[in-house]
Parts: sequence; structure tokens; C-alpha cells
Amino acid sequence: PKEQTFALIKPEAVKTHKDEIMKKVKEAGFSISKIKEQDLTREMAAQFYKDHKGKPFFDELVDCMTQGPSVIMVLSKENAVEEWRHLMGPTDPEEAKKTCPESIRAQFAHDILSNAVHGSSNIEDAVRSIKFAFGELDAD
Ligand code: CMP
Repeated sequence: PKEQTFALIKPEAVKTHKDEIMKKVKEAGFSISKIKEQDLTREMAAQFYKDHKGKPFFDELVDCMTQGPSVIMVLSKENAVEEWRHLMGPTDPEEAKKTCPESIRAQFAHDILSNAVHGSSNIEDAVRSIKFAFGELDAD
């Protein structure tokens, strides 16, 4: 089976750049194993980002994640976790523009909070997030 990662298009980018981001996902060779559009509640966003609780940007991060629907996906590809992180680019769009101009964040991020997309850091994180969002792991 191909490796799976969890990917999310943040609300601001769903409004402004959804089709362009989906085009880059497909062009990079990812299979979309699961996809849904969903409004995260504040409770879901806080749980999802619980590792960032206590950081100065936590409340604003929850605000930004609850301003509209997110697109939530399971992406499959060899080395999917790493490959999706590479396609996203650095967290900070200003750094992304300098070091990774072809990346999604360089091209479509609004700022460091509404930075277009999210992705898992490692396989354990991917398993946790896929279960959180879809309640199960996909078979293929
Ligand atoms: P994301 O991949 O969604 O994971 C956590 C998010 O926290 C990150 O993208 C950024 O949107 C946000 N974030 C991380 N570091 C900072 C920071 N220093 N200032 C503001 N927001 C940040």
C-alpha cells in the first residue's frame, strides 16, 4: 500500500484558491483517497491543534480555522508525508517565497496563520489526524 498523509486546505484558501491548489495536488501525482468539505467547530480546531495550546497565536489559529469550510483529504503516494510537506513549502509564506517559490504556500498563502494548507509532520501524526477527521484508516 502507498503511504498516506493528511492534508487540509484552510478556510481562507478554500474561498480564494481551491481549484489551483487541487490542480497542484493532482499534478504532483497524489491520489485523493478521501475528501470532504467541512466546517470545523472551535472545539475540533482546538483539539486538532492541541500541541500548539498555550502558544501566543493559538486563539488566532482557531479563529482562522473556523471562518468557513476547510477541505480535508487523505492523500496517497510513495513517501506521501514528506512529498506533501515539500509541496506545501515552509510554514511562513515570506520564507516560502524566498526558498521554495513553486510551493503552495509561496503561491497561495495569505499570511502565516492563513497559510493555505496544513499537512502532517510524520506518519504517526498522519494516522492520528486521519482518524480524527474520518474516523478510520483507508484500506489502500
Ligand atoms: P499549520 O501547518 O496549520 O500548523 C500549525 C499552524 O500554526 C501553522 O500552520 C501556522 O499557521 C501557525 N503558526 C506556526 N507558527 C506560527 C507563528 N510563529 N506565528 C503565527 N502562526 C504560526
